[in-house]
Amino acid sequence: MASAPGKTILMGEHAVVYGAPALVAAVDLRARATAAAADDVPTGKIRLELPDLDHAELVRTGEVREYASRARRRWEEFSRSPGRESFARMRGEGPGHVSVVALGEAMEAVARRGGGTDEDRGVRVAVSSDIPIGRGFGSSAAVGSSVALAWLARAGVDPTRDELERLLLEVERRQHGQPSGVDAAAVLRGGVLWAEPAPEGTGFRFESVTVPPDLLGRFRVVDTGVPAESTGEVVSAVRERRERSPEAVDAALGRIRDATREFRRLLGEAAPEPADAVELVRRCQRGLEALGVVPEPVRELVRAVEREGGAAKISGAGALTAEQDGPPGGGLLLVLHPEPERIRGWSFLADVEVLDVRPGGPGARVEEIA
Ligand code: MEV
Repeated sequence: MASAPGKTILMGEHAVVYGAPALVAAVDLRARATAAAADDVPTGKIRLELPDLDHAELVRTGEVREYASRARRRWEEFSRSPGRESFARMRGEGPGHVSVVALGEAMEAVARRGGGTDEDRGVRVAVSSDIPIGRGFGSSAAVGSSVALAWLARAGVDPTRDELERLLLEVERRQHGQPSGVDAAAVLRGGVLWAEPAPEGTGFRFESVTVPPDLLGRFRVVDTGVPAESTGEVVSAVRERRERSPEAVDAALGRIRDATREFRRLLGEAAPEPADAVELVRRCQRGLEALGVVPEPVRELVRAVEREGGAAKISGAGALTAEQDGPPGGGLLLVLHPEPERIRGWSFLADVEVLDVRPGGPGARVEEIA
């Protein structure tokens, strides 16, 4: 059995896709996967069980590898001309997509090490998760890494962190198109991470950071509902906007980048002033709004928080359009207030959920080998 945490981006989303830094934290919600031989599963097959999604399927081991390699080819085609349409063509459908891709990539990793994938027994792979899906909590990275880790552990493979990071990045690409890779890093490493762009666009250097508890404790995570568009669609739409209006989009990305860097500096202070953090969260959110990833009803919530003396920003990709009925649909909103105990009492948050989620916690790990 392996498990992995969800994540929340404290600052730097979207800009990080273009090589700016980000601050990202694992959270204390986890996905868990087991992979075990099962007598009631036919030899050479895998029974994938996703009870949270009310889904189960029986597949041949070979089919899993074929699915993953078809997904890889579709992604390669998409990456030659990334956009909203090519993303929609690339994305796999079906509740088992992430798990099957993760299994297929894990099988490739076993094969690269000279191990076999032919099973003399059937295998049951079961996944469960307390991470809400499609909100920006990195649920796909958590599911993908726990499934891959459970499969690798069963095959007797103990991957290096680099290997696992590369594997998970592939899974994330099949799900999100062109992810920055910070979700994968946060989920694998755990804790709070600073992602500093490495020279010459060669990815990121990750550094564990300690956020003063006095500051971290003033944040609350609010669920504003599932965004109308997936992370991949929103990231693709921003890319298209940047091609059409490079100056405006780069200015917005620059505001996010600068606020994120200043926030990092603030964390280095012995006793950061909450008011300074409030100002930086507001600046970051203005950049995200200028990018067009914060629908109107979510902006209204943010303005209401600001009138109370706090600040709020979306965490994750946000959304392009508002939901017509029901909650605003902007995914996660991080709310910061010098007196955080007031947050749950605000009437304007009555229709959304203030979650009981704490940043930090361990990264992906194998929990148990039977
Ligand atoms: C996803 O959690 C956040 C984005 O920055 C995309 C990414 O980093 O891959 C919007």
